[in-house]
Amino acid sequence: MKFLVFLGSVRNSTPPRPARLGERVALACLQQLQARFNAHAEEHSFELIDPLDYPLEPVFKPHFAYSKRQVPPLLDALAEKIRSADGYVMVSPEYNHSMSPALANLLNHFGSSLFSYKPSAIVTYSAGQWGGMRAAVGMRTFLSELGCLPVSAMVHLPKAQEVFAEDGSLMAGEDSERWQDYFGRTFDQLMWWADATHKQRQQVDPNSQIGVFSRSPSERNIL
Ligand SMILES: Cc1cc2nc3c(=O)[nH]c(=O)nc-3n(C[C@H](O)[C@H](O)[C@H](O)COP(=O)(O)O)c2cc1C
Repeated sequence: MKFLVFLGSVRNSTPPRPARLGERVALACLQQLQARFNAHAEEHSFELIDPLDYPLEPVFKPHFAYSKRQVPPLLDALAEKIRSADGYVMVSPEYNHSMSPALANLLNHFGSSLFSYKPSAIVTYSAGQWGGMRAAVGMRTFLSELGCLPVSAMVHLPKAQEVFAEDGSLMAGEDSERWQDYFGRTFDQLMWWADATHKQRQQVDPNSQIGVFSRSPSERNIL
């Protein structure tokens, strides 16, 4: 199966140092996923999606608002990755008790039909002591609306700059088994749901039963 790990920050500025703490958190997620599921390396791929690699137009125009021939190639390439993925890891900092606007902006560029009927895992972090918990609460609603239902366990990482080095590895003195257990609970749930929904999508195409909103909201809503 294929998984995308969305890095939710584009902030290359300080203070506080270091700039873009999210880079190390997203790399840590990738390392935890690869180590945990590496017995199945040929079956599973984990890809980092860095919003800095997808420069968006200054005026908001989602992927689905373009005519097919005019979609910017990078946006189209990301749409295809989202469509073909089986699950998502959403890594967000907490900005003013909310999810990262950079992550929300990137995700808003794609219709829920690309994300639907698959699971997601919420990973939040902060430089301070709460680990992005308040951002995570809002992310549940956001991701549910996108259709990639968040699994119940979540990862919250307070003072992430004291735990992860720039390459995502654990700093000296950290208990790696404890961290594996912590990430593992959420990522095992993600894998279980990804496997279940993958099989079910092959059995029954959800779009053959439940209409997709492509032209009018009436296609989706009963009333
Ligand atoms: C605009 C802004 C708002 C922030 N709000 C919060 C907050 O509500 N809670 C918190 O714990 N940290 C907050 N922080 C601190 C972040 O945890 C810290 O800057 C972290 O490095 C952000 O991740 P990033 O570097 O990957 O963007 C805020 C930072 C910024 C820039």
